[in-house]
Amino acid sequence: MSTKEHLIIFDTTLRDGEQSPGASMTRDEKVRIAKALEKLRVDVIEAGFPMASPGDFEAVKAVAEAVKDSRVCGLARALDADIDRAGEALKGANAGRIHTFIATSPIHMEKKLRMTPDQVVAQAVHAVKRARQYTDDVEFSPEDAGRSEIDFLCRVLEAVIAAGARTVNIPDTVGYNIPDQFGNLIGQLRERLPNADQAVFSVHCHNDLGLAVANSLAAVRQGARQVECTINGLGERAGNAALEEVVMAVRTRQDLFECDSRLDTTQIMNCSRLVSGITGFAVQPNKAVVGANAFAHESGIHQDGVLKHRETYEIMRAQDVGWSQNRMVLGKHSGRNAFRARLQDLGVVLASEEELNAAFARFKDLADRKHEIFDEDLQALVTDATLDAANERVKLVSLRVCSETGERPQADVVLAVDGVERTGRASGGGPVDATFRAIESIVESASVLKLYSVNAITSGTDAQGEVTVRLEKGGRIVNGQGADTDIVIASAKAYINACNKILQPAERAHPQTGDV
Ligand code: KIV
Ligand code: ZN
Repeated sequence: MSTKEHLIIFDTTLRDGEQSPGASMTRDEKVRIAKALEKLRVDVIEAGFPMASPGDFEAVKAVAEAVKDSRVCGLARALDADIDRAGEALKGANAGRIHTFIATSPIHMEKKLRMTPDQVVAQAVHAVKRARQYTDDVEFSPEDAGRSEIDFLCRVLEAVIAAGARTVNIPDTVGYNIPDQFGNLIGQLRERLPNADQAVFSVHCHNDLGLAVANSLAAVRQGARQVECTINGLGERAGNAALEEVVMAVRTRQDLFECDSRLDTTQIMNCSRLVSGITGFAVQPNKAVVGANAFAHESGIHQDGVLKHRETYEIMRAQDVGWSQNRMVLGKHSGRNAFRARLQDLGVVLASEEELNAAFARFKDLADRKHEIFDEDLQALVTDATLDAANERVKLVSLRVCSETGERPQADVVLAVDGVERTGRASGGGPVDATFRAIESIVESASVLKLYSVNAITSGTDAQGEVTVRLEKGGRIVNGQGADTDIVIASAKAYINACNKILQPAERAHPQTGDV
């Protein structure tokens, strides 16, 4: 039996991750990601900031009700109204946590909060006590701890632990620290606080200097036993510490760490693909652990070495983080049960029989057009099939695009809008441009295209293209996805998906609205 201590993994993809400009997620998308995180076995899922908007409240509530094996956490400023709202959102959780915070750096206290240090301590203690009325599991963060004075940090932390905080999280909010400095900070706090043994020390590092993972690991070496992180390192500005990097560093270097997480790392790729598909934030090919090239050996010397003995150039096994060998998993004659079983293996949970039926119909259609169907195809297809059909006011009926050398491309589209078929025609600079204009001539979303990206899901010329379209209207940002072997059709699907979101009443304000 392992004698290692437990390293708690606190995932904040749905909260801090969503604060990446453009990475907004709907409630249902958040639930899907939360279910995948649960399957990854993360200990705590920070599902949102309930006070930020009614949409955020609903999303935290939905995640709290859907997730059973991970603890679900809601963020709250150190204000009564925020804490009450978080408590309310978490009512249905099997295990809930309230995470409350207030800034402690001189610059934040003076310029942002306009509060004295004494007032900050009093408010922090009051907030923790109030949160304890809802749950025994309260976490406190001194925001901008990385630029706070250590004596003051000691004072605040000792007081909040005495008030009932069971986790004290040390955020490097602006990503200013470097590893030995940050590690020492954690070591000193643990040494100096008389009640340090009554709370778990946690860290939350931002990546402004590219040091979020290194700082988190340095802190773990000094006794931190919770790391806050996000899938693919998503997050405010340059992002947060990437979950997959922290977890794999600790797992791979067990000779250096006295702890380990309990994650099922084979689920990492599923989570990574799901998050990048939903947010439209593509993963760079050379990204550690989850980038397409993370396990690809280009140089002949390396290839030769790996063939002779894998460990000559590989420190982790690709399959341990969920990379499959692009296996052909299903074919055109596969039945519904095999399809459902493979999705389960992939960690994909469909909410209803209707979603399964829709996904299966798309699978059959794809199998007619594409010779080999890989896991990646299935994942894209499921993203397509779980688009909230009930809320889809606009559906693609047919698309015809004419593109010819020397001619301006022209698109003819037929859409069903609220069940009524309508046609649109437009020309454009290219076939995708013409298609978007034709759709827009019917839908009149009046939104601005902020991002258009295409990724080949697998290799080969018959690969599906996965398209993300980001639209903005009146400050509201939505992402649409579509996949197809024909990238113009994939683009049309993605544009229509984004339009359907724009046409729905705003679910939420951006989580950064409010003084956070
Ligand atoms: O970066 C930060 O300080 C935060 C806190 C709310 C923990 O996200
Ligand atoms: Zn943060």
